[in-house]
Amino acid sequence: MPPGSPTKARAPLTGEDPQSEFARDLLAGLSNMPRSISPKYFYDAPGSVLFDRICELPEYYPTRVELDLLSAHAGQIAQYMGPRAEVVEFGAGSLRKIRLLLDAMDQPERYLPIDISGEHLDTAAQVLRRDYPSLHVQPLVADYTRHLLLPALREGAGRRVGFFPGSTIGNFTPAEALHFLQMVGQALRGGALLLGADLVKDPAVLHAAYNDTQGVTAAFNLNLLARANRELGGDFDLTQFAHSAFYNAPLQRIEMHLMSRRRQQVHLCGRCFEFAQGETLHTENSCKFTIQSMQALARQAGFTPGPVWTDPQKLFSLHWLDAPI
Ligand code: AVI
Repeated sequence: MPPGSPTKARAPLTGEDPQSEFARDLLAGLSNMPRSISPKYFYDAPGSVLFDRICELPEYYPTRVELDLLSAHAGQIAQYMGPRAEVVEFGAGSLRKIRLLLDAMDQPERYLPIDISGEHLDTAAQVLRRDYPSLHVQPLVADYTRHLLLPALREGAGRRVGFFPGSTIGNFTPAEALHFLQMVGQALRGGALLLGADLVKDPAVLHAAYNDTQGVTAAFNLNLLARANRELGGDFDLTQFAHSAFYNAPLQRIEMHLMSRRRQQVHLCGRCFEFAQGETLHTENSCKFTIQSMQALARQAGFTPGPVWTDPQKLFSLHWLDAPI
């Protein structure tokens, strides 16, 4: 049976709405050849827990190095931000990162975390309000990759500075990254963006970061199939798919895939999909940048690159980018 053919053999195993965005995107992604799905579907509750564990892994250097960069340069970054700045964070983010900035800033005026998950935002907001009583914390529940409507600057506030750490920019396609930066540039007019970007490096270091010895990244990748089973009534056999992550040097990106260990059929939302042995579902690209390629992309989106902070091994970079006026 050709991939994605309707089957009468099996109805969805649960009564979930097959028209949900996840169902639609997964069905479309399984029907295309090569098969692929957006990495945004990694982040259900179990996936978010697994991602937090990835950030603590010895092999996964980006979080550690970015935190070190923020600690070392928070004072200088705060000077660029100026007094009474407003910080807009794209994604609810790690409170550890925003605290490093808030602690160094001169009377931060307002913090606006934007995230699609209201739950994450509420937790972050409560903790920060308690610890920074004079800071206005205004969470915004929205998909920041789609539309960005920010409230007007508070009266008396200084500059508005966007914060997009973690190199999540690398999980976008090049066209999405450009579109996102253009949208952010418009939303931050007259302000700036502090952007984390992972750097091109020894492929062995990259390989280790996405193939950790404890298997946490593998579990994170496979959780996508577990999620499809839980939410959409799929029958993916998790023991018959393998985590595969490798560095695609010409495209300067880590690719993550779920590889079928054998020829098999999978049923989802009343459809049957056939996997050949070794066939994959492409689940993520994690693009790596040079300082120059990141700055070129930022310029193309209308930003003016400013200072770049990086570690001695040149593993990770933090970019100050002035938004268009
Ligand atoms: C969120 N993002 C920047 C991570 C990355 O490194 O691309 C997601 C991740 N995938 C596997 N490990 C971590």
